[in-house]
Amino acid sequence: MTSPQVTNVFSSKSDVAYHELRRLILTGALPAGSRLAQYELAENLGMSITPLREAIRKLSSENLVDLDTHRNVYVARIGATEARKLFEVRLLLEAIHARYGFDLRDYSLSSMRRRARAALARSGLRHLGELQHHILCDPSSFPQVLDDLTVRVTEMFRDPSFYRLFCQRVLPILRTYPLLKLWHGGCSSGEEAYASAILLEEAGLYDRAQIYATDLNPAVLEQARQGVYSAERFAVFAENYARYGGGSALSVYGTMAYDQVALRDALKRNILFFQHDLVSDHVFGEMNVIFCRNVFIYFTPQLRERVLRKFAQSLCPGGFLCLGGGERLPAASGLPFSEFAREERIYRYEG
Ligand SMILES: C[S@@+](CC[C@H](N)C(=O)[O-])C[C@H]1O[C@@H](n2cnc3c(N)ncnc32)[C@H](O)[C@@H]1O
Repeated sequence: MTSPQVTNVFSSKSDVAYHELRRLILTGALPAGSRLAQYELAENLGMSITPLREAIRKLSSENLVDLDTHRNVYVARIGATEARKLFEVRLLLEAIHARYGFDLRDYSLSSMRRRARAALARSGLRHLGELQHHILCDPSSFPQVLDDLTVRVTEMFRDPSFYRLFCQRVLPILRTYPLLKLWHGGCSSGEEAYASAILLEEAGLYDRAQIYATDLNPAVLEQARQGVYSAERFAVFAENYARYGGGSALSVYGTMAYDQVALRDALKRNILFFQHDLVSDHVFGEMNVIFCRNVFIYFTPQLRERVLRKFAQSLCPGGFLCLGGGERLPAASGLPFSEFAREERIYRYEG
């Protein structure tokens, strides 16, 4: 292996290893399945194991390399063609960050790749490079691309067992506070925030509550503010509500017109919808509950941890953090949360 010519350009040894290994994969010099002994590689690059491991961690979060800890070797995960495609996705995300400030660069690359393909198919363009050029030059094309890259799937009372447990175990604690602040981070088109409003209303707590419901994507927030859903989807919400054990029929909270249900204004009175980026915006404080459900699944572990630290700053002592079905706090992360209801991914801030 040739030694890199770029050493002094990069700020750290781990950067050198990262760029060099990535270059070797992108050029095909390291085909998929290639194995590199870590001590030998460190020697070749003229560095110790620690910065090399740091570089591998980064490459592994980009799906390029794995560490086979058993044998102390690194294994290239994909070949050059595949690596170039992932690289194009990264360039697209870089362009979005530079041009519009939305930082999707630390989202799970495999999921971003799928979403980027969908965005490309919808645009009618042939290559991600063209899509990148298009959004750089034509801002009017960007909202659709952002919408394609982010996943907006949501439901009211999604996961009824979560809501049942929330009512049985969290609401009695919230009842002891004179004022309540709840934050739905990544609220999509509002269903989850309206479900919270209904829970609080039925528990007689809504008048003392303020719900902040935020999302990165302005298009979903517009829908959220309107609170109008198709009758077909509303039927699914009503089924979820019945399964959780809701106090009445969900239909009392909406008015049916043609094939749509408009939620009643009374339900909207204490909800504030606004744009907020969990990755790059500051958090706002003293929340009793943060819901961030089905958002972390799209983040790399490193990004999850960064956002979790922000949530710790935002919660009041003993405040609750609610994650989605497939999401857990990283083990042994040193984050200041304790498990409150493991089965429904509810945690408490131990501040
Ligand atoms: C799959 S939806 C989940 C909606 C809802 N929380 C639920 O569980 O039903 C994910 C939402 O997170 C939003 N999102 C993704 N990245 C975000 C970020 N960095 N900041 C704020 N919202 C984000 C997306 O726009 C999308 O609306």
